[in-house]
Amino acid sequence: MEEKRKLFSAVQPSGAVTIGNYIGAIKNFVALQDEFDCIYAVADLHAITVRQEPAALRKNTLELMALFIACGIDPEKCVLFVQSHVPAHCELTWVLNTITYPGELSRMTQFKDKSAKHAENVNMGLMDYPVLMASDILLYQAAAVPVGADQKQHLELTRDLAIRFNNRYSDTFTVPEPYIMKGSGAKIMSLADPSRKMSKSDDNPNGFITMSDDRDTVIRKCKRAVTDSGNEVRLSEDKPGVSNLIAIYGAFTGKSAQETEKQFEGKGYGDFKLAVGEAVADALAPIQAEKARLLKDKGYLNEVMKRGEETASRIARKTLSKVYRKVGFYQGE
Ligand code: TRP
Repeated sequence: MEEKRKLFSAVQPSGAVTIGNYIGAIKNFVALQDEFDCIYAVADLHAITVRQEPAALRKNTLELMALFIACGIDPEKCVLFVQSHVPAHCELTWVLNTITYPGELSRMTQFKDKSAKHAENVNMGLMDYPVLMASDILLYQAAAVPVGADQKQHLELTRDLAIRFNNRYSDTFTVPEPYIMKGSGAKIMSLADPSRKMSKSDDNPNGFITMSDDRDTVIRKCKRAVTDSGNEVRLSEDKPGVSNLIAIYGAFTGKSAQETEKQFEGKGYGDFKLAVGEAVADALAPIQAEKARLLKDKGYLNEVMKRGEETASRIARKTLSKVYRKVGFYQGE
């Protein structure tokens, strides 16, 4: 049997998941399950680099696990686990820290942005975040990592560290490639300000739709979405608001921009926005129902996590023990 290439990705359990996260990440995770051997993690170790309320972190971890499965990630096909359950992530991070230069980390765009945003809590974990991410990827010898624009620099560092380690200690790590999502790599923008990325930390809650928003909320937010001058539903750089809605509509209905333009020819923004809201709400309803059902079945979720932990640990241990041997840690004779 031909072995599939390994693919790794993770999402932080740091609160509400927006439809931007879904379209940009989780939806693709589902699509990649057959093409790759997929390993997906709930990145709780990353989450604590900014302050988290402990009870909320626990709840968000379970909810994200349920959401992954509700969205169609099949725990029978993929390795699905919680990052902190596999200690090798921290262990490899320590070793990789010794070949990482502080300057490489302090010039990371995300570190600079988050340091400015959380000025009261600029901690070593925040700075070391990309090394932990490199460990996530390298432990599983992942060949491909689906990443959005904001994680590209971190993947670049991962590649640098893999190459550096391989050169210093002999071939150990697979050097991962970014996996560019076909078609739907679209970045989803704020509904309130289409020049900014959709984010759950937006001060204006009308700027984002979360995966748990109810039907009325979804439709209201879509109706209020900022559109552009004119009244034509057309994908265009000078129509960032409408173009963003076309992308959202496409992600939830499978329709191309051309099909959408044609469907709404001669109709105004009002009709279109309502259709977008209904399409999003229709798509979210079954996911929300399945997620609620799963959350009532904690036994099942715990079992999935346990199985994920076991499989992930087995793969990670193998890499880690190779690394320990290469750097000269005594492991018995
Ligand atoms: N840092 C990623 C994010 O916030 C999450 C993440 C953690 C990740 N480890 C990873 C993504 C490894 C890809 C590969 O989006």
